Amino acid sequence: MSKTILITGGAGFIGSHVVRRFVNQYPNYRIINLDALTYAGNLENLKDIENKDNYKFVKGDITDAQFIDELFEKYQFDGVVHLAAESHVDRSIKDPLAFAKTNILGTMTLLNAAKELWSDDYNDKRFYHISTDEVYGTLGETGLFTEETAYDPNSPYSASKASSDHFVRAYGETYGLPYVISNCSNNYGPNHFPEKLIPLFIHNIINENPLPVYGDGKYTRDWLYVIDHARAIDLIFHEGKNAETYNIGGFNEWQNIDLVKELCRQMDDKLNREPGTSEKLITYVKDRPGHDLRYAIDATKINQELGWSPSVTFEEGLAETIDWYLNNPAWLKHVTSGDYQNYYKEQYQD
Ligand code: NAD
Ligand code: DAU
Repeated sequence: MSKTILITGGAGFIGSHVVRRFVNQYPNYRIINLDALTYAGNLENLKDIENKDNYKFVKGDITDAQFIDELFEKYQFDGVVHLAAESHVDRSIKDPLAFAKTNILGTMTLLNAAKELWSDDYNDKRFYHISTDEVYGTLGETGLFTEETAYDPNSPYSASKASSDHFVRAYGETYGLPYVISNCSNNYGPNHFPEKLIPLFIHNIINENPLPVYGDGKYTRDWLYVIDHARAIDLIFHEGKNAETYNIGGFNEWQNIDLVKELCRQMDDKLNREPGTSEKLITYVKDRPGHDLRYAIDATKINQELGWSPSVTFEEGLAETIDWYLNNPAWLKHVTSGDYQNYYKEQYQD
């Protein structure tokens, strides 16, 4: 094995696609997937690669300093791709401290362990921190987030991610830790937990349940297929420059209500329902507090410096995503049993 790479949060949505890509693309790397298996972590996401020789899963919490130090000592990692996080904005509004703990303290715990292990020789080492476009706050009707946009987070989630980004940079400046950061827009695709807009609405359309659109539905997001995010992460990990930030986005803005109507149209078609059936499920509900109006990424830097651009159109990606959910009812059933019912009731019915 030429390198041992730690991927954190590899049982989650994006992490599982990143783990799969690294395990398949780099048979000479040993990939250690560290995940606490919170409600969002699911080893079913990785069934196809779980027996590969270059892959190992370790269950553990990134905020447990002793455990993390021992893990770094044991595996002598050459690189870290850090995705583990609390990731849902609505949950951060209900329980902000949980987000501070995992996203800030957890990231610092990993940074400390990497600094201790690597400080004698930083050569060929890399700490790659996966962040979000939400750290930039909100855009008005026009403009794009660039790598130079000032941080201005509005939710406890985005504030915790912004803070973790600052700590990564500070470890670079203060201790010389080799790092790279990327800030990506909204992902969608297979294995997305049905608390986020697209998978939640697919799940509700299948079950003919209401589609809860927040506020007037005129909020705008830039959507990227998760497999294209995993491609970008691979490229940045291997070819990105130290101490740099890369914005990743789909050049694919949708107002929520237009996206929901498109989803309804495609689902009616695939489920052989009368056109217009699913749209009748749209229900306007109370807005998210501090709701950011618009996110849109300028991904020129990663395009020009590393040659990355999305490989899948939104139409293709959305169709593949819907097909995946329709073909994997067992996955959907497992993740929506138990605690999910309580979450849903508290978020939407109280
Ligand atoms: P997710 O919620 O699906 O997965 C997070 C994973 O982290 C889960 O497997 C969970 O078990 C694990 N985890 C949580 N707390 C942990 C802890 N204390 N110790 C170890 N593991 C823990 O999240 P996601 O949507 O896949 O996002 C992954 C990363 O990408 C996050 O850092 C998120 O901020 C960032 N990001 C997400 C998006 C998006 O649209 N989903 C966009 C940009 C950036
Ligand atoms: O921009 C990147 C971010 O995208 C990531 O950092 C986050 O981890 C990820 O969760 C996502 O955040 P959003 O808040 O944009 O995603 P979400 O799917 O929760 O919401 C998308 C939009 O849809 C947002 O404007 C809120 C709205 N929405 C969401 C839900 C869950 C609704 O109208 N109704 C809903 O039930």
